[in-house]
Amino acid sequence: MNEQSQATPAAACSEDKPIVVETRDLTRVYGDGGQVRALDGVNFSVRAGEFVAIVGPSGSGKSTLLNLLGALDRPTSGEVIINGQALSKVRNLDRLRSHAVGFVFQMHNLIPTLTAAENVEVPLQETMWNPLARRRRAAELLDVVGLTSRRNYLPGQMSGGERQRVAIARALANRPALVLADEPTGNLDTQNTADIMRLLQEINTRQGATIIAVTHNHEVASATGRIITLRDGRIQSDVAVTSAFDRDLIDFKESPLGRAIVEGAPLPPEYQRLGEALREALRRV
Ligand SMILES: Nc1ncnc2c1ncn2[C@@H]1O[C@H](COP(=O)(O)OP(=O)(O)O)[C@@H](O)[C@H]1O
Ligand SMILES: [Mg+2]
Repeated sequence: MNEQSQATPAAACSEDKPIVVETRDLTRVYGDGGQVRALDGVNFSVRAGEFVAIVGPSGSGKSTLLNLLGALDRPTSGEVIINGQALSKVRNLDRLRSHAVGFVFQMHNLIPTLTAAENVEVPLQETMWNPLARRRRAAELLDVVGLTSRRNYLPGQMSGGERQRVAIARALANRPALVLADEPTGNLDTQNTADIMRLLQEINTRQGATIIAVTHNHEVASATGRIITLRDGRIQSDVAVTSAFDRDLIDFKESPLGRAIVEGAPLPPEYQRLGEALREALRRV
């Protein structure tokens, strides 16, 4: 295998850009007796302009991690640092949440009695005093997500994909340093999933937004630039997706055969050498 096709450690990429978010030994234990270590000493950093996927089996701590990054929850120990500020030292977390972080959840969480444009304006109410400026900004954001024609629709009058696009516009409203998305395509069909991912990619490349997205979907994950895999609350792997070859390897790793190879299943003699080489490559991505 040649050198170029190997996955490089994610930390090797874009080192000139500032770090937007960083975790130090981030740990979250649920229950008084320490029954569930949902996150167990997680360390990583994300630089401006990165698009990172968080993957891992159900219960591996993905949502717990995202909630801590967005200051929706507090760690049991360890620290989250956003733009150089340790969250444990931030007095006004509400302000931080509305200014520095944009959220997109699996359930869009739009307000059902407000139109698309009004929903996008909600977070602007804390940052823009001029109603006209707010309206203009909302219109601009709905244009970014391709929903200008739906601006006066209520959530109930839109499709699931459209509602999620409104939620993305809302998350971008205050130009947050960090956009956090927890299974943003979880409730959508294949076509809408592809559209939402394309939109997130566009927002990442065109607007330079730093995005961390939790996903179950491996195709979604491999469309990003970096994949962090969680298992039992720890980082199992953290790799930059540097080539189409890596993308395919990452997809293959999730297939039944890929998983069996990684887990060391015995190989038929005629595939012994190929299998060993594949195992090594798959364990790296
Ligand atoms: N509020 C909570 N109280 C108790 N346990 C929780 C709570 N939230 C999550 N957990 C547990 O923490 C672990 C990680 O959960 P979560 O972060 O939701 O995983 P994921 O998003 O990867 O599916 C799981 O074992 C889950 O049951
Ligand atoms: Mg979850």
